[in-house]
Amino acid sequence: MKRKRLYLSPPHLTGREKALIVQALDSGWITSVGPQLDEFERRLAARAGVKHAVGVSSGTAALHLSLLALGVGPGDDVICSTLTFAASANPIVYQGARPVFIDSDYATWNMDPNLLEDALRRAAKRGKRPRAVIVVDLYGQCAALTDIRALCRKAGVPLIEDAAEALGATHRGRPAGSFGWANIFSFNGNKIITTSGGGMLATDDGKLAQIARHLSTQARDTAPHYEHTKIGFNYRLSNILAALGLAQLAKLDDRVAARRRNFEWYRAELGRADGLQFMPESSDGTSTRWLTCVLLDPSRFGADRERVRLRLESKDIEARPIWKPMHLQPVFRGATVVGGRVSEDIFRRGLCLPSGSALSRPLVRRVSAEVLAARRG
Ligand SMILES: Cc1ncc(COP(=O)(O)O)c(C=O)c1O
Repeated sequence: MKRKRLYLSPPHLTGREKALIVQALDSGWITSVGPQLDEFERRLAARAGVKHAVGVSSGTAALHLSLLALGVGPGDDVICSTLTFAASANPIVYQGARPVFIDSDYATWNMDPNLLEDALRRAAKRGKRPRAVIVVDLYGQCAALTDIRALCRKAGVPLIEDAAEALGATHRGRPAGSFGWANIFSFNGNKIITTSGGGMLATDDGKLAQIARHLSTQARDTAPHYEHTKIGFNYRLSNILAALGLAQLAKLDDRVAARRRNFEWYRAELGRADGLQFMPESSDGTSTRWLTCVLLDPSRFGADRERVRLRLESKDIEARPIWKPMHLQPVFRGATVVGGRVSEDIFRRGLCLPSGSALSRPLVRRVSAEVLAARRG
């Protein structure tokens, strides 16, 4: 019998989704308004430790709304982490602005605050202040958010925290997604909790929340007829999907514990292999270990990451290279990058292993055995 494919990070249902969705259907609130959406926003805001949360159709939409609220436009510069998924940077281009990419450091794999400081200093010298900094919390780990926020404050540049991958993580005791002027989460199917597709913009700024709500519902002005003074977007999260989100959010702590447990299991299996290193955990916080990621040194380990990935693939096990840095992407060719070698190295040597929260110890053993079997000789 053929074994089932083992996916990188599949959705994990709690058993409560169906009941809550049926409740939402029965209540008649099946579009973009309703008690489930209000409740999901309230609970997410509480969890993230911010005053307001606006449910939207994706994390990308939340980022786009943040830039729209700032009035980012053609000719503007927006700073962004280079080691991330393209969705972090795409909204900069939607607005006709220019991304300026910043390399990672090895301590967190996230934006290097020293390079950010350089970039802000150089921008000030040229008299061209960036319109925003988008800092990404990669694979469930917060960036050096205290330092990055202080640099942004000093330079007078709004901070947008892309915590799409880091719901449930902390930095110095505070939740991921509470450090920016705007903070975004994703509930895409591969995330730690999912609404099938969806996102949230979280903020302490009531004005930003109000603008985001307005723009996400086609910017309809108050009038009996349809009146518009701004271009709007159809970005609101539906009440039905919010019901899914409520079931999922209630289990967030369990999901974080399961992902961290996966990591410990992998460490027990692979921790002694020469030339294999795990993504470090910053001493400044707790990562959710959304994905367990490793770096391979081919000469010591005996296989490069592609050889390991292909070996896993041949056994129907999905593993993925670390994000390809944005400054290496054809679509961002010519964009400014500050540094770049660290993220290039992490990309070249890094691999994400299956990390779903329903993973079992025997499955982790099986994956680990295949990782080791990929070695030559
Ligand atoms: C770092 C990062 N930013 C933004 C996004 C975009 O989120 P969404 O897929 O909900 O648009 C994702 C994931 O998809 C992500 O991993």
